[in-house]
Amino acid sequence: MTDKTSNAMWGGRFAAGPDAIMEAINASIGFDQRMAAQDIAGSRAHAAMLAATGIVSGNDAEAMREGLLTVLSEIETGNFAFSTALEDIHMNVEARLGDLIGAAAGRLHTARSRNDQVATDFRLWVRDQIDAVDAALTALMRALVAQAEAGADWVMPGFTHLQVAQPVTWGHHMMAYVEMLGRDLSRFRDARTRMNECPLGAAALAGTSFPIDREMTARELGFAAPCANSLDAVSDRDFALEFLSAASICAMHLSRLAEELVIWSSAQFRFVKMSDRWSTGSSIMPQKRNPDAAELIRAKIGRIFGANVALMTVMKGLPLAYSKDMQEDKEQVFDAADNLMLALAAMAGMVCDMQANRPALEAAAATGFSTATDLADWLVRALNMPFREAHRVTGSLVALAESRSCDLPDLTLEDMQSVHGAITGDVFSVLGVANSVASRLSQGGTAPVRVREQVARWKAVLE
Ligand code: ARG
Repeated sequence: MTDKTSNAMWGGRFAAGPDAIMEAINASIGFDQRMAAQDIAGSRAHAAMLAATGIVSGNDAEAMREGLLTVLSEIETGNFAFSTALEDIHMNVEARLGDLIGAAAGRLHTARSRNDQVATDFRLWVRDQIDAVDAALTALMRALVAQAEAGADWVMPGFTHLQVAQPVTWGHHMMAYVEMLGRDLSRFRDARTRMNECPLGAAALAGTSFPIDREMTARELGFAAPCANSLDAVSDRDFALEFLSAASICAMHLSRLAEELVIWSSAQFRFVKMSDRWSTGSSIMPQKRNPDAAELIRAKIGRIFGANVALMTVMKGLPLAYSKDMQEDKEQVFDAADNLMLALAAMAGMVCDMQANRPALEAAAATGFSTATDLADWLVRALNMPFREAHRVTGSLVALAESRSCDLPDLTLEDMQSVHGAITGDVFSVLGVANSVASRLSQGGTAPVRVREQVARWKAVLE
């Protein structure tokens, strides 16, 4: 099938074949073979439409559709010889179809171009990937909700500036990530809805003079509608960029959680124990349990955001319609998608298996004068003090405790009254961490009852 003197697909006006380096820079088969299933689905829909509109005969279309299934099974079973000379997945499939069914294969490309073909294949591929990400994100969210449910009332330090701020609950902290990932999920779903239009039938750029039925191919491929403008259909990759943007934000969220796991599993924190399945040892230091998976998830944002920047840079400044630059879209997206999926699966595994160290969390929650705000609030409520004054009085009490190397609940009533005479013994009721979190009942607050409400709501959503 391959003709070395000139190309079998477009060799008519060429006397000589390409230079070897030309072939190497031009070929995309090394990576776009990942879209084989989408390419063949697109061709099968196109063949059916060509027959339904009378552009090709029913017999030819049937031969094409049968032959395409054979090609697909050859590829899926590893019995397909991909050829660099045939450049890309589209021409590899078409050439093999020719071997299998003869002349009828030559009619498949009627009213079609590789430009609308690749735009369709890639949309189908990204759409499939969004569905896979959707399932993986949902699994991770379920794992976080399970952690939150188990520890809805476990008290831990809440941080700002990574300095102890106020006590919070483990469940509340887990559910914060569920909210973030929930928005990621909706970003992917939004992108899916927007991209779900079919480029097929745009042909090279201008549409076609054949009486095609674009509604039919769109429907066959599960698209909501055909793309409205043929120039736009073949020349934009914003759907891939939306996927990469959503993936970048999601990877950023995963990176933050990963960073917390790295900190929390350290000997200084001991907030969580990662399971053996998600820890690695050291070849020299026998005591080590390293959180390598978390560190790698933390790093994945680098390549995923890199892909986003790379494709944005490829696309900027390209005149309409198709340019070969756009062939550089796929590897970035494939790599980002693979790594996002890996990160999601690894994070779900780690979150499922990790054990929060409740005593360590609670002990840490009580350090760093974490109930100072509760004390100030008490002064406001019990003594009707303006908050600014309460803040100052509490600051003096913290300084006093610090000078004694003790925590706020360890001060005596006399100590307290030396700073402000009206303080009564009732103040000690607000200095414990369990009371502190239980009191934060405001909507979205850290109180266990509020956390359990969030858990129940998300459990229903994630059913
Ligand atoms: N391999 C090409 C790509 O990935 C397919 C489209 C080629 N179209 C063209 N006019 N050369 O973009």
